[in-house]
Amino acid sequence: MKPIQVGLLGIGTVGSGTFNVLQRNQEEIRRRAGRGIEIAMVADLDTERARSVVGDTAKVVGDAREIIANPEIDVVIELIGGYGIAKALVLEAIAAGKHVVTANKALLAVHGSEIFKAAAEKGVMVAYEAAVAGGIPIIKALREGLTANQIQWVAGIINGTTNFILSEMRDKGLDFDVVLKEAQRLGYAEADPTFDIEGVDAAHKVTLMSAIAFGIPVQFDKAHVEGITKLSAADIKYAEQLGYRIKLLGITKRTDKGIELRVHPSLVPTKRLIANVEGAMNAVVVHGDAVGTTLYYGKGAGSEPTASAVIADLVDIARLHTADPEHRVPPLAFQSNTLVAAGGELPVLPMSEVVTSYYLRIRVADEAGVLAKITSILAGAGISIDALLQREAGEVSGDSEGSQGVPQTDLIILTHATREGGMDAALAQIQQLPTVLAPINRIRKEELN
Ligand code: HSE
Repeated sequence: MKPIQVGLLGIGTVGSGTFNVLQRNQEEIRRRAGRGIEIAMVADLDTERARSVVGDTAKVVGDAREIIANPEIDVVIELIGGYGIAKALVLEAIAAGKHVVTANKALLAVHGSEIFKAAAEKGVMVAYEAAVAGGIPIIKALREGLTANQIQWVAGIINGTTNFILSEMRDKGLDFDVVLKEAQRLGYAEADPTFDIEGVDAAHKVTLMSAIAFGIPVQFDKAHVEGITKLSAADIKYAEQLGYRIKLLGITKRTDKGIELRVHPSLVPTKRLIANVEGAMNAVVVHGDAVGTTLYYGKGAGSEPTASAVIADLVDIARLHTADPEHRVPPLAFQSNTLVAAGGELPVLPMSEVVTSYYLRIRVADEAGVLAKITSILAGAGISIDALLQREAGEVSGDSEGSQGVPQTDLIILTHATREGGMDAALAQIQQLPTVLAPINRIRKEELN
């Protein structure tokens, strides 16, 4: 059979990895796919760079639309990124009857419903293994390997940049700003790291996992997104003393009331495997009712790890290309006519309805009765305390006598699970106490058991 013809839009880090791995492993890939997979055309604004990667094995063009207009091309790989031109080109490729492979989590998390609908109408596939956790086949696992299960929750370290920064903060006892600058100098963080450090990249990825785990539409606009910029070395150290590590987690959970969809820093017990995922590595834990808890670990970014996922999608397409569209794996795991409508019986819950436990760090005046007042407010709100530490503020931050000129101490409280709305109200009351001397630090805590 004639090799499947592929057009590549954008040949940067992942594009060149894809080209190189396809070349290197072409024979094994052909044996698996049942036919060859050939990158026939490459579009990149930098045509010289593109030529330096592909030589004369593929036609290089500066205009991506030349690829879309070519009737010989079966599959378009979109590696441009962002929502602008990438969205237009993906929709045009679909309209032209091409299958699409993309690593663009932002595009699918925000415009996925429109894109999947257009693809269904045209009978083409949109594959996106590379969009979540790079080389880890988590989309395949959720959509196919765990298909027998009622999935109950998914929690992942799905942003390597922030995991690298948190690992460095813990290892070196440094604050966020210092580590970010070093990470940028070493090339671990981008010059504009906003999407990574503010949790947006992780939220795009968990939005996609939530949709395929629960059979709901992609709803990035409903995700709670919180990054790591406010974390201090002191919190990381206190968490450690209590037996926890702080990780930026993307979490989605099925509850009786609906779906939790959130990204924020979380304390995770040090004894959990996922708490020991360090540096730029990614890991995802999935809990299904039949299988129990499963863990997936690997590189979440980089040239060949991401290429590994892109090529897995190409092989799927090569195998299913001639199949009746109704007999292919649905892009969001559930048949499209069974997806629960946004806001329907499985609504994404507001944060006030999320139930989780908390780490609180409260800087207080070190005097009689302070702790009693705080615990009585928590008790009044029905919030049960799990553990409590009192640390001289100076032990970590070196300022036991603060600007108010009174002896100060840090109270660190771990709570049992409670509704976030109730915790917000209790914290507002505690913050009003005259003996509470600084804004309260609150970090959520996940036991993941
Ligand atoms: N910027 C992402 C990360 C990789 O740091 O994990 C691509 O999603």
